[in-house]
Amino acid sequence: MLYIVDTANIEKIRHAIEYFPIAGVTTNPTIISKEHTDFIKLIKEIESIIGNNRMFHIQLTGSTSDTMFREAQALRDIIGDNLYVKIPVSEEGLKATMALHREGFHITETAIFTQQQALMAAMAGADFVAPYVNRLDNIISDGVNVVGEIVELFRQYSLPTKVLAASFKTAEQVHKISMVGGHAVTVNPDILENLIYHPLTMYAIDDFTADWEGVYGKKTILDMIKEQ
Ligand code: E4P
Repeated sequence: MLYIVDTANIEKIRHAIEYFPIAGVTTNPTIISKEHTDFIKLIKEIESIIGNNRMFHIQLTGSTSDTMFREAQALRDIIGDNLYVKIPVSEEGLKATMALHREGFHITETAIFTQQQALMAAMAGADFVAPYVNRLDNIISDGVNVVGEIVELFRQYSLPTKVLAASFKTAEQVHKISMVGGHAVTVNPDILENLIYHPLTMYAIDDFTADWEGVYGKKTILDMIKEQ
């Protein structure tokens, strides 16, 4: 499972990569707009924080395949080879995907709501497809089931495309994606923290500390080794 953080907030990205095994950052125009700052400056700063070994998914905003193609080229000049251009699935998007795939770009087809959109994107050359789990749940569809069927389709047709499940509101949704074989999830920083939070774990850690301090006070293992 690849965990990706779904934010453009600099402090939250710094925190996420320091404390979690994060494979990259995803953004979209909504996420970018929340930062109210210069777009180019922002993506350069994110890139300098995550480095070129983590993926950086940036959504294109052009409405024609030609504009998308040129946006992708310009972004790759800035970001480099860890850039994944996010393209919303549509006719123009698929045309751009095929053209960019031929040129060796990494592509994440996004705003996926159906299994056939995902299959079509994979056939066009997308590296990832991003189905929107919570938005599907919100229309009384079943986001986890859609992801599971996409995973199964890619397996059946031996396609190299991976499923990057997106749009989560709960840690439970994320867990269910891992149970149906989703290859990657992109989650906001709050959900990332919820994925490891459990009150019993907190109690256990507090008990360990209290028991240790009851006998050894504030001395740490390192203090004791130094005293040898
Ligand atoms: C991924 O980058 C998607 O754009 C994002 O997860 C969508 O999430 P939302 O449905 O919470 O807006």
